[in-house]
Amino acid sequence: MNMSEQTEKIIDESRQGEALMVDQAETAGKRKMFLESYGCQMNFADSEIVASILTGQGYTTTSDISEADVIFVNTCAIRDNAEQRVRKRLNEFNQVKKKNPDLVIGVLGCMAERLKAKLLEEEKLVDIVVGPDAYRDLPVLIKTAEDGQKAINVILSKEETYADISPVRLGGNGITAFVSITRGCDNMCSFCVVPFTRGRERSRDPETIINEVRQLYSDGFREVTLLGQNVDSYLYAGGGLKKEIYSREELDSAVNFAQLLERVATEVPGIRIRFSTSHPKDMTDEVLHTMARHKNICKYIHLPVQSGNSDLLEKMNRGYTREWYLNRISAIRRIIPECGISTDIIAGFCSETEDQHAETISLMDEVKYDFAYMFKYSERPKTLAERKYADDVPEDVKGRRLTEIIDLQNRLSLESNKKDVGKVHEVLVEGPSKRSDEHLSGRTTQNKVIVFPKENYKPGDLVDVHVYDCTQATLLGNATGYSAGFKN
Ligand code: 5AD
Ligand code: SF4
Repeated sequence: MNMSEQTEKIIDESRQGEALMVDQAETAGKRKMFLESYGCQMNFADSEIVASILTGQGYTTTSDISEADVIFVNTCAIRDNAEQRVRKRLNEFNQVKKKNPDLVIGVLGCMAERLKAKLLEEEKLVDIVVGPDAYRDLPVLIKTAEDGQKAINVILSKEETYADISPVRLGGNGITAFVSITRGCDNMCSFCVVPFTRGRERSRDPETIINEVRQLYSDGFREVTLLGQNVDSYLYAGGGLKKEIYSREELDSAVNFAQLLERVATEVPGIRIRFSTSHPKDMTDEVLHTMARHKNICKYIHLPVQSGNSDLLEKMNRGYTREWYLNRISAIRRIIPECGISTDIIAGFCSETEDQHAETISLMDEVKYDFAYMFKYSERPKTLAERKYADDVPEDVKGRRLTEIIDLQNRLSLESNKKDVGKVHEVLVEGPSKRSDEHLSGRTTQNKVIVFPKENYKPGDLVDVHVYDCTQATLLGNATGYSAGFKN
């Protein structure tokens, strides 16, 4: 995914709906798939696994719906409006199908898992429904649908990590890539549908992770983001559900997240490493010390807080208090003083009072986040909150609180960027800037977007850039030379 500029992300639901449409040459005579992805980074990574499985069956990708034999939409169920957007898109695809009745339409991912046969039988919007753990079954399901039968597989697995599948990199910049390290989530935050749509947490074999990163490096990639719903709970001791099947001996020799980071950083020294998402209840000082030790591990942590009030955090089943969270922030500041920090915040969760909302505001002010993703609470079926608590904060109050949160974050982001003016940052160049071909765009280790005149630099270069100005979303600078990091 080509991450858009940070301003666009401040909007509620900003991670939804970034469509990924890809094309490949030499397509003559082959069956063509059109793949579109919504939602989190994990979904974009999963689409690359889907592309790999179907490429192995002789399919090529296309960005032109009219020439597609199959259309797959990889979907998100995290908030209701994410699902509404996908429904609208499926209706559009069905218009195309009216002209081309042989076209097969499939829904993949979290919405497929949540709604199961409903999209197929009641709403008749799709021909194929495939949950996140069933992508290996896609070739068979396509055949079933083409034979006019119902094609559905929403079985969640306790083992599947797609560890042996080499993702086909889609629509990216050729410089940054996602590598998934865990699947599923065991946390059961009371507002969240993910444990129901992505199943139990399992960790991927570290050897396959390192091999994938090494391959990316030799293919010219210069940055990886290690992905998991909660990377800090990564634990590998031979596969499967860790808590249930590992013996004492296996656990003693298990690889944890800090150790995985250490291995990737030392075994592929030429690549920058990011990771997402960290969980405040599980993030250890060991991880922070590992980050501090390695220059190629980016100094940036996404640490979702959700709320600044301890009672609400308990109701959210987050496993930490305001004090614990602030202690983790102090640990980051102590061990990695230059670390960029971002967060996720939910406005208007069940029974949230004005005072509790004010605590979220005061926490933001105290932490001074560089960046945040901010959402209105959206009740999701099956979750603990839906079963146990009333969604009782009126819509207008949710909206007003979200606006206050966004306004504050906009000020904090600008303040944070202003502190960078006058400094020199090491920047990995990702590609041309959005607004001008004469400028390049890249990111600092703290994950800030920086734009500077291109001169003779190119994507993949690690460049020192002097910052002379900024907006709330972007740093503006001039290159001062190649960085000592590495030179292409
Ligand atoms: N309503 C609003 N936001 C939600 N998130 C997860 N579930 C919901 C929900 N039901 C947000 C959380 C999470 C991010 C990925 O999405 O902030 O960290
Ligand atoms: Fe959802 Fe909580 Fe798991 Fe994140 S940690 S995916 S918010 S249940």
